[in-house]
This record gives sequence, C-alpha cells and structure tokens, in this order.
Amino acid sequence: MTRHVLITGAGSGIGRQTALRFAALGNTLSLVDFRADAVTRVAAEARTAGAAAVHTQTVDLRDADGPATAVQTAWETAPVDVLVNSAGVYPATPFLDLNAATWDAVQHLNVRAPLLATVALARLATAAGRAPVIVNISSGAALRARPGAAPYSSSKAALEMVTRASALELGPYGIRVNAVAPGFVTVDSDANPVTEEYAAAVSPNPLGRRGQPDDIARAVLWLCSDEADWITGEVLRVDGGASTGAMNLPLHWTPTIAKEAHA
Ligand SMILES: NC(=O)c1ccc[n+]([C@@H]2O[C@H](COP(=O)([O-])OP(=O)(O)OC[C@H]3O[C@@H](n4cnc5c(N)ncnc54)[C@H](O)[C@@H]3O)[C@@H](O)[C@H]2O)c1
Repeated sequence: MTRHVLITGAGSGIGRQTALRFAALGNTLSLVDFRADAVTRVAAEARTAGAAAVHTQTVDLRDADGPATAVQTAWETAPVDVLVNSAGVYPATPFLDLNAATWDAVQHLNVRAPLLATVALARLATAAGRAPVIVNISSGAALRARPGAAPYSSSKAALEMVTRASALELGPYGIRVNAVAPGFVTVDSDANPVTEEYAAAVSPNPLGRRGQPDDIARAVLWLCSDEADWITGEVLRVDGGASTGAMNLPLHWTPTIAKEAHA
C-alpha cells in the first residue's frame, strides 16, 4: 500500500534520505523546507528513485502558522498518512552568549513546529476518520548536555516529551507518535555546518563506525510500518550504542589487582 508522506527538513541530511527511502517504495511525497533550491533538488531525486508523485513547499517552520500551513497544503493534495518532523537546527552558542532570540529560534523550529504540525494533522485526520503515523527526529543531545548546546539539548528533551504527550492523547484515535534519536550522523549540511574536530569528538560509539542518514531513515520507515503497529510514545535511539554509557574510560582496576580479587 503506498502512502502520502509529508517530510519537513527534506532538503538535506536525514530528511532527504528519509524522502528517498519512501520514494523508492513508490509513495507520494510532500517535501517541506525553507530552502527552495534544496527541496527542488531532492524532489527531482525522489522522482528518479520511484516516488508516485512529489509535491514541494517552501515554508519557514519557525513562523507560528508555518507548520499548520504546510500540513493543510499537503492535505489538500491528498490525505497525509505519514508525517516525519525532521527540520531542525543545532547551532553552537556559548552559554554566556545566550539571549532570548537564540533560544526562541531553536525552540520554535525544533519543538514548536513538530508540535503544531502534529496538532494540525491530528485535527484533519480525526475529522476524516483517518489515523496517520508520526515520527519526530530527536537527538542523543536530549539526554546529554554539550558545550554550546543548551537550547538544542533542551529543545530535543522537550520534543521527546511532546512525543509521549501526543502519543498519549492521540492513541485513542489510532494515531501513533514516536521519535528517533540519532547519534552523530554525517550530513555535510549547509544549514547545520559542523567542524571535523567536533565530528571526530562526538562520533565514537561501541559499533565503531560513523552514522549515516540512511541508518536513521531505515529506523523511521520501520516505525512508520505496520511492523511497529503496537509502538507509540517511544524514543528509538539509533546511535551505534553511543548512549549506552561512557566510552574510552580506563578499567578501574589493573589486571594484577583484578587477578588477585578473583583468586
Ligand atoms: N546530523 C546529526 O548528527 C543529527 C544528530 C541528532 C539529531 N539530528 C536531528 O536530525 C534532524 C535533521 O538534521 P540533519 O542533520 O539532517 O540536518 P540538515 O541541516 O542536513 O537538515 C535540516 C534541514 O532542515 C531545514 N531547515 C532548517 N531551518 C528550517 C526552517 N526554519 N524551516 C524549514 N526548514 C528548515 C534545512 O534547510 C535542512 O534542509 C534535526 O532535527 C536534527 O536536530 C541530527
């Protein structure tokens, strides 16, 4: 069964790769980004990958009415079956430089937009007797503070609670809401540039290789599938095991002491 899939932040990185995965299955896509050139490029890639149809929208999701407009516009082409909230920013701002504007910019895009898009879609869907599935893209930063990332980490912690709260209230309508929390993923993005020094420091994980957008896209597709039809309000950490604990610590005993202790 093919579906109508609405993806925010589809112009790059995880949103783009999720779009291409859904496209390859012959779905219809509505792709939203605030960079018109980027979303147009990905739409062409999605058509080549096999999408049944691709609609694009250029919307700034920080605007108060941006998320609802994006959902309404997509719905007018066909009822939306899947919503993936991937648009997000992760700027680095030293704590002492924070102000209301930098805080608001991150919260409006990373938390308010997914919330408002979910509300808009749930209103349309419940009125039409339909039950779409929603996935929010969180981050390992939701659980671990990082230098320069107070607004970002806070936004993702809030997004995980928005995920649980919306799952709780929308479950009775059959609407599932989950999140995927990626570890560091190489996206090479103009919208979210990071230095190689940062990437190297944040990448280590027990499985040993750096994450790719496709690692996240495949998890999103699974959560959206009927295979996951009794899962809602869940946050799936897709990070090569990075969130399991502290890596690169020495053993707290020397082999000699350990041998004596176990003799
Ligand atoms: N890449 C990682 O390591 C990583 C790790 C954890 C979580 N994430 C999360 O994954 C999501 C996608 O990030 P990514 O790494 O693919 O980044 P990306 O920069 O490649 O993609 C983000 C997209 O969002 C769009 N966007 C930015 N501001 C927007 C706005 N105001 N309105 C509409 N669109 C806007 C950008 O144009 C871009 O195409 C984000 O929510 C991010 O927080 C990324």
